[in-house]
Amino acid sequence: MKIVGLIGSLRAGSLTRQMMETLPELAPAGMEITIAQIDHLPFYNEDLKADGTPEDPRGLADAIAAADGLIVGSPEYNRSTPAVIKNAIDWVSKEPDRPLSGKPTLIATQSPGALGGILSNYHLRQVLSVTGAELITGPEIAIIRSGEKVETGKIVDADTRDFLAGQLERLAEAIRRKG
Ligand code: FNR
Repeated sequence: MKIVGLIGSLRAGSLTRQMMETLPELAPAGMEITIAQIDHLPFYNEDLKADGTPEDPRGLADAIAAADGLIVGSPEYNRSTPAVIKNAIDWVSKEPDRPLSGKPTLIATQSPGALGGILSNYHLRQVLSVTGAELITGPEIAIIRSGEKVETGKIVDADTRDFLAGQLERLAEAIRRKG
């Protein structure tokens, strides 16, 4: 079961990246999570598609199309979703083969603050719902005080790790249901 992960933060010490890089060790057997690069994508511009979709956004669309599922991990910027992740979704959403349509998708936000990026989480739900992505609903992954839960690049907090493992299992179940 192949999963593509997107990360809505570009900085090296990103807490979102640390959260996402913890997931492979919590994933159910047979689930393989690969992080896709989105930092090199140009800002969405229809004019750039005059001779077809440029290689980088099309490569991302291909990676998502070939995957069984998607995990979108993101921080919250000014009570919304950072531009970098919105831009990646915008590019993929306009591809004619609709790689996001029907794709089992888990949304995970974090914040060093007390709200876990929940407004970013819900903006991602709003944006992804129109792409036809099959969103995993139920308890949201919105990790609060994330800075206190990581050590040497991974989430170490036991309750958070258990919760994330359970959510990955729910993603796996959604993929199995599709057959
Ligand atoms: C933030 N941050 C933030 N945090 C939050 O919980 N709600 C918010 O609305 C915002 N707004 C915001 C705007 C901008 C422009 C920045 C740069 C930051 C703080 C943010 O959660 C914190 O910097 C995280 O560590 C960012 O995630 P990464 O880069 O660690 O993954």
